[in-house]
Amino acid sequence: MTPARVQLVRDTWALVLPIQQQAAALFYERLFQIAPEVQPLFRGDKVEQGAKLMAALNTLVLSLGRMEQMLPMARELAIRHVAWGVQPAHYEQVGQALLWTLRKGLGDAATPEVMSGWAEAYGELSGAMKAAAYGDAPPSATAAAHAKVHRSSEAESGERS
Ligand code: HEM
Repeated sequence: MTPARVQLVRDTWALVLPIQQQAAALFYERLFQIAPEVQPLFRGDKVEQGAKLMAALNTLVLSLGRMEQMLPMARELAIRHVAWGVQPAHYEQVGQALLWTLRKGLGDAATPEVMSGWAEAYGELSGAMKAAAYGDAPPSATAAAHAKVHRSSEAESGERS
């Protein structure tokens, strides 16, 4: 991440901190709305859970730009998530709920640049967690786009003069 983006994420996180309890509640509400199938995985106390989530995000924000320092914690956390029944596809849904919550919580401060910064930060962390817990990520959309370009430039065979 560029230093400017890191700064944007840090500055906007400071706006979320004073409303972190509401933000956590909003996040779970949104997550269970878009992914009701994950609700049974959460068995602990919701308020406590929200506080842990916010603490984890705080660590993420503080470590931005120094991802390698976060890796041991991210790996350990990701492996614990497997035991709770979390699957790779859930990271996408959690990311969507998180970005939605931030957009709501930040209001006018949620500019496209700010939201891209958050998406990048979550992408880095969740990518590291998924890689640690499940091995390599599935083929990306970029790989699919590549394949398409290659197909259209395939040489014709059986040409006659
Ligand atoms: C960057 C992504 C994520 C972060 C930073 C994160 C963070 C955390 C933290 C800090 C805890 C508490 C750990 C503890 O109690 O020791 C937790 C628990 C949990 N997380 Fe995540 N999480 C992430 C992604 C996900 C995803 C994708 C799911 C899938 C639905 C998920 C589901 C859960 C569940 C089910 C628990 C345990 C709940 C319980 O004890 O009842 N998390 N997470």
